[in-house]
Amino acid sequence: MSPNIPVIAIDGPSASGKGTVASRVALTLGFHYLDSGALYRLTALASRQKGIPVLEQAQQYEQDIAECAAKLDVRFEGELIFLQEEDVSLAIRDEQTSREASRVAALGAVRAALLQRQREFLQAPGLVTDGRDMATVVFPDANLKVFLTASAEERALRRYKQLIGKGFTANMVDLLKDICERDERDASREHAPLVQDSRAGLLDTTYLSADAAVAEVLRRYQIVSSHDCV
Ligand code: DC
Repeated sequence: MSPNIPVIAIDGPSASGKGTVASRVALTLGFHYLDSGALYRLTALASRQKGIPVLEQAQQYEQDIAECAAKLDVRFEGELIFLQEEDVSLAIRDEQTSREASRVAALGAVRAALLQRQREFLQAPGLVTDGRDMATVVFPDANLKVFLTASAEERALRRYKQLIGKGFTANMVDLLKDICERDERDASREHAPLVQDSRAGLLDTTYLSADAAVAEVLRRYQIVSSHDCV
């Protein structure tokens, strides 16, 4: 890893608002941004496109899915994400891909295939990244570590609004069930489970606006960077 390039690692459960907060913090600081969840979503989509039954038999196809992860032909362009030059920015956010991403993310070979790729996003002047294991595994030396969360009901509501806003149909009861199941799977899996790193400060956004959460992360970053305590 590059010790002189600052990293802000934001981890937390599904739909906690990490993406919104992390991308806005990156924009404010002029840093690069890595949405690590997108890589797992892209792996799920690429695997499905190859005919691999990701949802039903992810484990049996671990090596094939890991190969898809290693060979991902992906390009990030602002808010757009291209897989083999096809704009999949919306497709990777639908509920099927969300469920599949959670399955592929549980596979050790897939996580190993994506590790170096994530670290390559660390470029000057700095990186803000969000996911589940940014602070614990991918960037353990991050200058600032934040564990961002919100109640399951609030997260289901946010996802509901997000999906409706993007023109998808959505159902609150199903979303809440899905979020709880995904939390359980992300937290109990063997490889890189979702846990709060011992050096990560908690940020509960249940009653916090996105603006306030962004301001709080920037405030924490200012404290650690002004005291140079890496
Ligand atoms: O953050 P997200 O909802 O876009 O993530 C999609 C899936 O990928 C989710 O099930 C958790 C998983 N994931 C992971 O295991 N590790 C990461 N660093 C990021 C996401």
